[in-house]
Amino acid sequence: MIAYETQWDYLFKILLIGDSGVGKTNLLTRFCQNTFDQDSKSTIGVEFSTKIIDVGQYIIKAQLWDTAGQERYNAVTKSYFRGAVGAFIVYDITSFVSFQNVTKWLNLVREFSNPNTQIFLIGNKSDLNHLRQVTQQDAKKFASQNDIFFQETSALDGSNVEKSFLILSEKI
Ligand code: GTP
Repeated sequence: MIAYETQWDYLFKILLIGDSGVGKTNLLTRFCQNTFDQDSKSTIGVEFSTKIIDVGQYIIKAQLWDTAGQERYNAVTKSYFRGAVGAFIVYDITSFVSFQNVTKWLNLVREFSNPNTQIFLIGNKSDLNHLRQVTQQDAKKFASQNDIFFQETSALDGSNVEKSFLILSEKI
């Protein structure tokens, strides 16, 4: 349906940031193409995909920007944040370090983006509950202290992935 694909009411630039290996690229491909890659390579620089989202009243074209979490790529620069209306900060529930680094990512978003940018904390890899290093309680507490949304997801089994993108789009 070409006409549907090209007609939209709003274009939203949404960022995915977080440490390397937390699953940003797979969250994106799960949402945009419903696929998952067990051996996905680290993102180099910045890539983006688009998806049309129907939030009831409006048709949104979401432009989803995926960055390299590896510091050596230095992908997250001020210009990356320009025009962003939403940001997912992703950590891996099996990596306490990736959760500790959320503070760093949050500070970057707050420093460089518009004050109205909606921020969503994502604890990914919920399918690996047996390897969990970050409790839901701690993440919920952090999210409420910082006034941001929170959800655990699994790019592998798809749980809460679409829901999180829809919630963020509705909030924007
Ligand atoms: P960078 O591009 O280096 O910043 O990494 P990234 O955050 O984009 O991570 P990526 O999506 O490449 O995933 C890293 C590894 O985690 C890959 O081996 C994925 O298959 C795996 N992975 C991603 N999401 C999940 C998930 O929800 N569950 C499980 N079990 N593995 C996942």
